[in-house]
Amino acid sequence: MSKTRFMTLARFIIEQEKLHPEATGELSKLLHDLSLAAKIISLEVNKAGLVDILGFTGEANVHGEKVKKLDMFAHEVLVKAMDHGGHLCAMASEEEEGLIHIPPYHNIGKYVMLFDPLDGSSNIDVNISIGTIFSIYKRVSPDGKPGTMDDMIQPGFKQVAAGYVVYGSSTMLVYTAEHGVHGFTLDPAFGEFLLSHENIQIPKRAHIYSINEGNYLYWHPGLKKYIKFLQEEHKEDNRPFSSRYIGSMVADIHRNLLYGGIFMYPADSRNPNGKLRLMYECNPMAFIVEAAGGRASNGKERILEIKPEKLHQRMPIFIGSEYDVKLVEEFLAREE
Ligand code: AHG
Ligand code: MN
Ligand code: MN
Repeated sequence: MSKTRFMTLARFIIEQEKLHPEATGELSKLLHDLSLAAKIISLEVNKAGLVDILGFTGEANVHGEKVKKLDMFAHEVLVKAMDHGGHLCAMASEEEEGLIHIPPYHNIGKYVMLFDPLDGSSNIDVNISIGTIFSIYKRVSPDGKPGTMDDMIQPGFKQVAAGYVVYGSSTMLVYTAEHGVHGFTLDPAFGEFLLSHENIQIPKRAHIYSINEGNYLYWHPGLKKYIKFLQEEHKEDNRPFSSRYIGSMVADIHRNLLYGGIFMYPADSRNPNGKLRLMYECNPMAFIVEAAGGRASNGKERILEIKPEKLHQRMPIFIGSEYDVKLVEEFLAREE
């Protein structure tokens, strides 16, 4: 029987800690709380298709409670799973305007967490992969007090851990805490995340591109030329590339992380800042992809070095295999 069969997320985290004696164990507990939230959200996501059959739609469910949208449900599960652990001093979510305060006595932890509770939510009702994204920083405000906005608005390179959960043909949790990117698959029978992808490395060069091509008309001329270039025939270069676009950033990037490829959500003439959120989507995914040997930029600057201005700010993103991201940056620069 293979050893990896028994490498649960909890055990892996403990073993990582032994390898890195500087670790205090707090981050490990935080990841453990988070994996509980992921299991609960996964269960609910899997039930989504049964909602109509079981009569849970409408204003109230069988308990007389108001039915929540799955993204609000995921938001609340994450808040509840994380706000009593004592490791955080504040949180922020794509689903909430301001800072999420943590109850007294639990609010003086060393870390802050930012998250996109459900990414790709337009895919929920059509049985297509969706995800959860999280990003963890060490606080910068003085210890012993509740967290502040300064603790949240930090550049991405300051992250101490980031990860995502993809609810797909199976549920997988992928995270990095600076020592490699590791993936765990949820065994639904006994509810444990088991190590399935140790030390993920993204291929340096690939032949998959992911972008919403319906926006072609509004793109920068350099981007139009780059996409046309990928579609030309050049056998040694593996062109034409394949186009794969799920419409869930987590799922698109997860595939590219394993097979190689580039994911883009650019700025365009209608949306000069792109669509995706710097703090909840771009930074954590950039941290993971870079830790796996890839590259992430907004076309000009490294995502992780951008100084954030506000919690919900949007940012264009080009992320994935190093060679491919460098090439699109060159195409964009040529048309400046
Ligand atoms: P969210 O569901 O958290 O709002 O994010 C949706 C995002 C992202 O997952 C995806 O890559 C992108 O929106 C798709 O946007 P388009 O439909 O504009 O292509
Ligand atoms: Mn999202
Ligand atoms: Mn979302």
